[in-house]
Amino acid sequence: MMTERAEGVEARVAAPHGIVSVRAARSEDVPAIFENIGHWAGQGKMLVRPMQNIFENLRDFFVAEVDGDDGPTFAGNGALHILWGDIAEVRGLAVAPGVQAQGVGKAIVSACEVEARRIGIPVLFAWTYSVGFFEKCGFTLIDKSKDLHPRVWSECLRCPFFVGCNENGMIKRLDGVPMPKNLPEAPQAQVPPGIR
Ligand SMILES: CC(C)(COP(=O)(O)OP(=O)(O)OC[C@H]1O[C@@H](n2cnc3c(N)ncnc32)[C@H](O)[C@@H]1OP(=O)(O)O)[C@@H](O)C(=O)NCCC(=O)NCCS
Repeated sequence: MMTERAEGVEARVAAPHGIVSVRAARSEDVPAIFENIGHWAGQGKMLVRPMQNIFENLRDFFVAEVDGDDGPTFAGNGALHILWGDIAEVRGLAVAPGVQAQGVGKAIVSACEVEARRIGIPVLFAWTYSVGFFEKCGFTLIDKSKDLHPRVWSECLRCPFFVGCNENGMIKRLDGVPMPKNLPEAPQAQVPPGIR
């Protein structure tokens, strides 16, 4: 897979139906992001995300588009949400139905990684059922019973599976990004019952 950077574009890959570009999300993208997440949430693949939540966190989001003869077409979305000075979560990742398995998901995660590097965040985290996909993106599984960063529970309080969560925690250490100097210790978050 070819990945490159261009002005305003965080990742670009060649896919069977055209070139896929990933860029920072804009306000006009929100209805498509909302609908895409809702589609997969309806299938139990991810947490539903209210439209207000998407607007409030829009600077976290990236949008992937396939360049076609009629212009760019929405192909997926994902977000990088900073949890603490040393860790950011890849969340809200959803590739549009019909463009799965063409490198779109990997391109969005790549854009998140570029952004984390720019900010100086050395670790990416994800809660996921798609372990194989994240392994292909360089993530490794962690032991939920002991290896979790104290800030990774930020969205658990609005999750219907708050008790009895069966998602996997995965991390990726970004080579060449040092731990921030003078990093304050992260405050302990409430740990959902049933996980530890
Ligand atoms: C999971 C998801 C994001 C993957 O995106 P995608 O565009 O289909 O995946 P890609 O084409 O970028 O795949 C990248 C690599 O991961 C592999 N891969 C993709 N899904 C996989 C899976 N479920 N299991 C194992 N490997 C997988 C691909 O074969 C590919 O391997 P390669 O690099 O050797 O060619 C996408 O299928 C999706 O949106 N699913 C529904 C919502 C969801 O589950 N979101 C994740 C919430 S954390």
